[in-house]
Formats: sequence, C-alpha cells, structure tokens
Amino acid sequence: MIKSTYQSLLLAFIFLFWFISPSSAHNNTAHDSSSNLNGNHEGCFSKVYAFGESDTDTGNAHFLGGFVRNSTTRLSNGRLVLDFLCEALSLPPIPPYKEPSANFTNGVNFAIAGSTALSRDYFVKRNVSRLIWKGVPMSFQTQIDWFEKYLVKVGCKGNDKGLCKVDMDNSLFWIGEMGVSDYTSALGSPVSLPWLTEITVKNICKMLKALLANGAKYVVVQGLPSVGCLPLYMSSSSEHNRDHMGCAATANKAIMLHNKILETKLAKLRKMYPNSSILYADYWNAYLTVLMNPKKYYIDEAFKACCGSGGGKLNFN
Ligand SMILES: *[C@@H]1O[C@H](CO)[C@@H](O)[C@H](O)[C@H]1NC(C)=O
Ligand SMILES: *[C@@H]1O[C@H](CO)[C@@H](O)[C@H](O)[C@H]1NC(C)=O
Ligand SMILES: *[C@@H]1O[C@H](CO)[C@@H](O)[C@H](O)[C@H]1NC(C)=O
Ligand SMILES: *[C@@H]1O[C@H](CO)[C@@H](O)[C@H](O)[C@H]1NC(C)=O
Ligand SMILES: *[C@@H]1O[C@H](CO)[C@@H](O)[C@H](O)[C@H]1NC(C)=O
Repeated sequence: MIKSTYQSLLLAFIFLFWFISPSSAHNNTAHDSSSNLNGNHEGCFSKVYAFGESDTDTGNAHFLGGFVRNSTTRLSNGRLVLDFLCEALSLPPIPPYKEPSANFTNGVNFAIAGSTALSRDYFVKRNVSRLIWKGVPMSFQTQIDWFEKYLVKVGCKGNDKGLCKVDMDNSLFWIGEMGVSDYTSALGSPVSLPWLTEITVKNICKMLKALLANGAKYVVVQGLPSVGCLPLYMSSSSEHNRDHMGCAATANKAIMLHNKILETKLAKLRKMYPNSSILYADYWNAYLTVLMNPKKYYIDEAFKACCGSGGGKLNFN
C-alpha cells in the first residue's frame, strides 16, 4: 500500500518537474544526473514499458529499416525523455522490442518512430505523404500486437496469473506522444482536422484499453507538443496563419483540441479502471516552457531546423 502511494506520488512529481530542468537539457552526457528528478527512486518500478513515436523510439524504426540512421538508433543525438525517466528510476535504458538479443529484464520499448493512428491501409489506398517513414508507416496497432505477443511469449510465460499481476503492479507504462505523424501526413491534404483528431484520440484510447485490460496499473500518457511551431508546419503554412507565438495557428489549434479531448477521454478511462492510476503528462506546456525561454535552456535556435537545408528563416526546404 505504501509502495502504491509512493509510486503514484512519484508519477505526479515526475510530471510536474521533469521537463523544466535546464541542466538536463544542457548536458546530454551519460553521467549528468542533475535533473530535478534526482533523489533515490530506485525500486519504485522494476520495469518500464514504453509506446509512442519518434520522441520515444530508441531503435525500433531503425531495426525495421524504416530510415537510415548513422550513429544512433534514436532520432536524436542526445537522450530522450524516456532515457531520463529510466535513469531517475535507477533502471538501465530499456531496449527497443526489435533489438536483436536484447535483455528485457527491465522493460521493453515498443515505440515506433513515424507510426500512425491511421491504418496502413489508409496510406496504401490514398498515397498520402510520408515524411519520415520510407514505405507504408506502421500503425499504433503494431505496438499493441507486439506488446501482447511479448506478454504471451516472454513477459508472462510460465508464470501463473498471480505472478504476472505482481509484475504488472511493478511496471510503469509510458505512452509517449502519439499522433504527430498523423497530423504530418495530413499536411496539404484535404483530410479534415477534426476527423483526424477523432481517429487519433480514439486509437490512443484503444491502445490504452488494451494495456489496462492486460493489467497495466501505472500509466502515464503524454499529450502533444505545439507541433505548429516545427519548421515543417511553419514553412508549409501561410505567413498569415500565425498564432501569438508566431507558429502555424491552424495546426496548433488542432493540437490543443487533440489534447483537450484526450484529457476528457482519460477522465473516462479512470472511472472505467478505478484500480489503475492514469496520468496525463502536459507535453504542450513543457515544450512551450522551453520554446519561450530558449536561452535559459541553452538553446540558440528555437524555431530553425538544426540539420535541414534550404536556408532562410527556418533552414527548411
Ligand atoms: C556534462 O557533464 C559532464 C559530466 O558531469 C562534464 O564533464 C561536462 O563538462 C559537461 N558538459 C557541459 C557542456 O557542461
Ligand atoms: C555518417 O556519419 C559520418 C560522421 O559523422 C558522416 O561523415 C557520414 O556522412 C554519415 N553518413 C550518412 C549516410 O549520413
Ligand atoms: C539481463 O539484465 C538483468 C538486470 O540488469 C541481469 O540481472 C541479467 O543477468 C541480464 N541477463 C543477461 C542474459 O544478460
Ligand atoms: C504517389 O505519390 C508520389 C509522390 O507524390 C507520386 O510520385 C506517385 O506517382 C504516386 N503514386 C500513385 C500510385 O498515385
Ligand atoms: C479493484 O481491486 C479490488 C481489490 O483488489 C477488487 O476487489 C476489484 O474487483 C477491482 N476492481 C476492478 C474494476 O478491477
């Protein structure tokens, strides 16, 4: 009981503070543990199961051959939020599901960069743009399928129901940002944004229900950041389509609606699954905190693409 309460408190704490730590943004080296999450959280959770897209994927898309990566299996030259989370829990970084001969003792990362709520069929039939993924993108359903396969073949194999439950009760389920690739694929297409929001949130909830039905007890769900502030969105929308932050207004409006609906649905899920703790992680405000005070976080360019080409204000073509 004490442990449960502590686990819940820790979750609440993580999402109040993890994202506003300048020192963790500044220094990506493995030995830097000066984030606000320091302190001893060892033993709170023995496993982390993660789901999501490029912000959370530590190698699945890479091992699937989804795109060419050079020196890292992440879509980042530094650590992801998930890496900091594991560190705070004194767990090793959790390996991607597709990593050959990985050690899943401390959890599995099922996140796939570029995966979508929209089905693979949708992309095949309509030939809509695929900016990240080389072929037809994987859908969220693939992550659910992998998770269920993992439980049968590894996670709960040979364990009776009781042991499996103990295992679930000591696991943290991290649902990273999901849906950005759907909004991206809709750019410049006639797809209606409210329809897309409905489909995306519906599929996130479908995934959550699959996890909860399998016994997930501690679940954190990230909302979406201000996608309209990314170079891709800003360069593909008119200069007149701007919000008070100077970002693509239509996209950001859609994302705000997405987050609002997601929060409403999470409230419903909490009622349906009273024995589970389901937290919403406010990625929107975390992201804006950094974007609006870049210097404080040692970021020189808040809007410009680091590694694009094309020059101009956004260095994006
Ligand atoms: C990052 O942290 C490491 C280890 O604490 C330190 O040696 C290094 O100087 C730091 N780098 C920067 C840019 O602060
Ligand atoms: C891989 O990285 C090296 C060194 O960082 C660079 O010179 C090379 O062009 C990169 N290759 C690709 C395919 O990105
Ligand atoms: C897997 O990791 C666990 C925990 O770090 C360790 O105890 C175990 O020996 C590892 N298994 C293998 C086969 O390396
Ligand atoms: C799909 O779109 C690409 C690029 O927009 C185009 O080159 C290709 O011909 C299209 N394929 C079909 C079957 O319409
Ligand atoms: C919640 O847990 C209690 C105590 O273990 C149990 O009796 C009850 O059936 C559970 N409720 C649901 C909805 O699983």
